[in-house]
Parts: sequence; structure tokens; C-alpha cells
Amino acid sequence: MDAPPDPLLQAARQARLQAIVPYSGFAVGAALETADGEAIGGCNIENATLGLTLCAERVAMVKALSEGQRAFRRLVVVADTPMPTPPCGACRQLLWEFGGDLEVMLANLEGVLGIHKLRDLLPLPFDARLLRKVTS
Ligand code: THU
Repeated sequence: MDAPPDPLLQAARQARLQAIVPYSGFAVGAALETADGEAIGGCNIENATLGLTLCAERVAMVKALSEGQRAFRRLVVVADTPMPTPPCGACRQLLWEFGGDLEVMLANLEGVLGIHKLRDLLPLPFDARLLRKVTS
């Protein structure tokens, strides 16, 4: 018998359907699992300036934070591609700041392509621990 579908993967696939991608046509969905088991989805939202485009992972994280969520367990990223879609560098930094060493699952519409720890995707992170005053 097949294993039941992972609800977080389903949430990421569902979020992807809302992607606003007139420039790239590359729709991405993400979903964050909060410490209390809630799934919060996000999609990529493009902008004519291109540079103001928001990745799906960042949208999911800021949605969650703005709803008061502060602790996270897992992130799923879904695109309709044979190769996995890992978070970009800027998203890794933001995810580290607020999610710590999340489990990051990369998937396409057929299934899971890989599972990583965020620490392995961002091996030497800059974060608040390094914001010490320089001694004179
Ligand atoms: N994109 C994401 O949303 N997440 C990723 O992990 C990689 C890239 C988006 C940004 C842009 O809308 C499109 O994919 C092409 O780069």
C-alpha cells in the first residue's frame, strides 16, 4: 500500500498554483512546517523590475512570521522540473535567521528528489552571534 501523502508536500504543491510568474514562467511552491505542526505555504511573485521578485521560500517565511510563528521544523520546495529547485542564497540566509537548521525537502510534481539540512546548504552562515562589537 502507498504511504499517505506528506501534508507539507501537498501544501507546497497547492501554494505553487498561485505563483505569479509572467516573466519566467517558472512556478515554485514552498511550505514551512511550524513547531506546532501547521503548514504555511508561499509561491513566487515576480515583478517587472525583476530584481523585486520574491521567491516562494521567502514568501512562506514572511507569511509565517507575520502570523506570529517563530519556530519551524521543515521546509518543502516544489517546482515542475526533473531537477530539484534548491533555495537561492538570499533565501538560505533568511531561512537560517528565522528557521535555523531546518530540514529542506526538494520535490517535483512526481515526488521527493532530495532532503537536506539547511546547515549543509549554508555551511558558514553570518548571523546574530557574529554581531559583536569590535574591541578598541
Ligand atoms: N525561485 C523561487 O521562487 N525559489 C527558488 O528556490 C528558486 C527561484 C523563483 C524566482 C523566480 O520567480 C523564478 O523562480 C525564476 O528564478
